[in-house]
Amino acid sequence: MRLIFLGPPGAGKGTQAKVVCERKSLAHVATGDILRGEVKAASELGLKAKEFMDAGGLVPDELIIEMVGKRLAADDCKGGFAFDGFPRTAAQAEALDKLLAGRGEKLDAVVYIDTDAGVIVERLGGRRSCVACGATYHVKYNPPVEGEACPAADGKPHEIVQRDDDTPDVIRKRLDTYQAQTAALIDRYDGQGVLRRVDGNGDIESIKAAIADIVDSLA
Ligand code: AP5
Repeated sequence: MRLIFLGPPGAGKGTQAKVVCERKSLAHVATGDILRGEVKAASELGLKAKEFMDAGGLVPDELIIEMVGKRLAADDCKGGFAFDGFPRTAAQAEALDKLLAGRGEKLDAVVYIDTDAGVIVERLGGRRSCVACGATYHVKYNPPVEGEACPAADGKPHEIVQRDDDTPDVIRKRLDTYQAQTAALIDRYDGQGVLRRVDGNGDIESIKAAIADIVDSLA
């Protein structure tokens, strides 16, 4: 199965994509997570990407397309994958079409999590992430079970922190960037007959159930 999770920043793409990937044994290809890993490692890509990420803009297409091409070549993508945060521009969508055609594959569905701007601002303002494993929490809607820490697999609780780009100014910029460069992909995938729209304004469990229905109908 090959899926895309599409939607504005804070729609819940990461939250929901992780659940589907675990349930369906798919590789979770989250370009934001890969980029944050590169920034943390201070790699050449990370150093180039950081200024765009901190400003709420998009990392240049050629860097993203090369990064995704390498990621798709990994063994865990052979059994299917779900993109989270990719594609984000028409050029990325076209590059993905070519990548998939070269592999003799096609998209099964684009899950569009349709979420209002007011909801998004509250979600991103309260989001926290584990410094060790990247697990995502929300101070109100999805707090870690152990209060202030992430219950890590090694039994040692890890600190959870706010992302550098979850500040009010950068959130506003990311929303503008989404409208200007990414929202047009909704029509593109609708035109291809693969778009599956989900109301993203409800609670995590109800959205999870709606997406499970869609994904199960594809299998
Ligand atoms: P990226 O990490 O992809 O950020 P994003 O698209 O802005 O998405 P988010 O991770 O902010 O939100 P999400 O939809 O995954 O929501 P989440 O599940 O965490 O990208 C970061 C940056 O990297 C970009 O700005 C760009 O610079 C660069 N980049 C990445 N990909 C790129 C690309 N392809 N091209 C160019 N540049 C790229 O949920 C948010 C919060 O809400 C959490 O706290 C969660 O617990 C909570 N929550 C989730 N669902 C619900 C719910 N239903 N009810 C209540 N709370 C909820």
